[in-house]
Amino acid sequence: MTSCCAPEGTFRRDEPLAMRTTFRIGGPAALFAEPAERDHFAAAYAEAVATGRPVYILGGGSNLLISDEGLDGVVLCTRNLASRRPERHGERLFVLAGTPLASVVNWSATHELAGLEGLVGIPGTVGGAIRMNAGGRNGCIGERVARLWSADRSGRICEKATSDVAWAYRSSDISDPVLAVEFQLRSEPGDAVSRRRREYLQAKSAAQPIRSHSAGCFFKNPEGASAGRLIEMAGLKGRRLGDACVSAKHANFIVNVGRARAADVLRLAQTVRERVRDLYGIGLESEVHCWPQTSL
Ligand code: EPU
Repeated sequence: MTSCCAPEGTFRRDEPLAMRTTFRIGGPAALFAEPAERDHFAAAYAEAVATGRPVYILGGGSNLLISDEGLDGVVLCTRNLASRRPERHGERLFVLAGTPLASVVNWSATHELAGLEGLVGIPGTVGGAIRMNAGGRNGCIGERVARLWSADRSGRICEKATSDVAWAYRSSDISDPVLAVEFQLRSEPGDAVSRRRREYLQAKSAAQPIRSHSAGCFFKNPEGASAGRLIEMAGLKGRRLGDACVSAKHANFIVNVGRARAADVLRLAQTVRERVRDLYGIGLESEVHCWPQTSL
């Protein structure tokens, strides 16, 4: 691995990315950095924008499919921008964006603060979860955000209130990197929060292949229906293409059972989409972000 100076600053070249994703798929990044301080991150973002190449913000890589050819652009990773433990101010928790979401969920349950326990079992970082408004049946992360800090394209750090963000089902309008966040939680003395956290995790691991290499649910649930149920009804559970496979446990997961390539995953997802559309007239929309952007 080499480092280079101007014009790309301290970016490393040809950084492998597959092991930085939960799918374990994808080629290298042409340029890569993972600054550990907020102001360094903001400056690196401005520098990345100034290269004129596409800029990608990588958290825990958990909702992501990177092309087999890699990325001819700049990847900035938030993993080093992590809090050792959240800072608590009454019922508010401040954390840096690269902090694993699971550690914040666990910390808040242990400290009898309610509001994040519904996010148990979701992999990735706090920043990535916010960007895509991660969640499930027990709520979405955007509902708990009081304010956040992001970098703008000229390298300034800006504060945003939650009302400045357009939160939607598995998405938000955040495009610049999130650097830190403050959650508004609710004090609930006793072990009720920990108990709920445990119950949610049990239900999730009973229903989902959480130990497999995947990007979580592949498709959004269509209005009033379940993508998993539709895919199962279409007879696609266990369908395999190369080492990409529709999970036999939960049909809305595509899992990498060996050395799957992004191309295999995309072709399998396309087959699923076409079959569900032909049988039920429903167009499934991908929840997984593809880099570079690819439509199914
Ligand atoms: N179902 C099937 N077959 C399957 C999977 C599910 O028939 O293979 C049925 C289930 O029996 C259930 C219904 O479909 O009656 C809904 O399934 P489930 O309870 O597993 O929830 P889901 O709608 O598939 C959603 C989120 C998950 C989240 C869970 C739990 C989406 C796309 N998925 O799944 O989020 O963990 O609720 O809160 O919104 C993710 O976004 O990556 C994700 C995994």
